[in-house]
Amino acid sequence: MTAVLIDCDPGIDDALALALAVASPELDVRAVTCVAGNRPVAITAANARRLLDLFGRPDIPVHAGAARPLLYPQARTNLVHGEDGLGGVSLGGDARPVATPGLAAHAADALAHLLLSPLGTDLTVVAMGPLTNLALAEIRHPGLLARARSLHIMGGAAHCPGNVTPAAEFNFWADPAAAHVVLTAGAKLEVFPLDVTSQAAMTPAWLAALAAQPTRSAQALAAMLAVYGEQDPLLHDACPVAALLRPQLFSGRTGRLEVDWRPGPDEGCCRLHQDGEVNAALYTGLDTDGLLSLMAERLARLP
Ligand code: RIB
Ligand code: CA
Repeated sequence: MTAVLIDCDPGIDDALALALAVASPELDVRAVTCVAGNRPVAITAANARRLLDLFGRPDIPVHAGAARPLLYPQARTNLVHGEDGLGGVSLGGDARPVATPGLAAHAADALAHLLLSPLGTDLTVVAMGPLTNLALAEIRHPGLLARARSLHIMGGAAHCPGNVTPAAEFNFWADPAAAHVVLTAGAKLEVFPLDVTSQAAMTPAWLAALAAQPTRSAQALAAMLAVYGEQDPLLHDACPVAALLRPQLFSGRTGRLEVDWRPGPDEGCCRLHQDGEVNAALYTGLDTDGLLSLMAERLARLP
């Protein structure tokens, strides 16, 4: 089993990625940490708790984290996922306490707690929102992120247009300084930018097959994805999780990945250079059919 911590901003594609992770016996989801991104952190954390309860995993602790990016006083959010971050789909249930009593409360502290423990060097961190929590943990504990087995990150647009500005993808744009801290932390980086996630498009037939399943999880996910698909049919956040399960679905190259963290029209822009010290594997190729069939098979296991 691969021990993972998932840092996210649910968000509907985050919801699908969480579902894939908890439905896969190869993964041991040790904690979920949440960050301001698609929606404010109070919303993303409550969504994570309700989603895990829906997927039959109320045991997984959820930790709320950064409410704003490093350099800006306000969170940079969007409405692609609706005001509530889940397309207006009610999951029912009351939000359980954010973190299990006795564990570190803040996401950055929970991340540090796990990475500094004996498990730390076996822990894979899957980040699918702005990287503020990871950056805060690294700033507080220099060298922390390099302890992880790897950082699987959905973010960036290396050699294709961005989705929030012409230069930048949302997760890197929402907190460019945090992305810079993480990319320069000396960690083992596996990065899934728009170059590859733009190929992770759900099809009407795939969504219809999900909607035809009788389970509460499938019904809720299909309803959310129907709303999400009106603006963005791309299952961005499923990619780093799927790569842990079926790495052969992805292809890419290594290089020196850097991000423009300076405020301005290019903030959040990232590029993979072939000179200098290699710090990342960057994925650009995807077997889309293989991804969709993997997800269909795993989501069918949820309650
Ligand atoms: O650009 C796509 C990313 O931004 C995804 O993680 C999506 O959930 C949003 O956070
Ligand atoms: Ca996300």
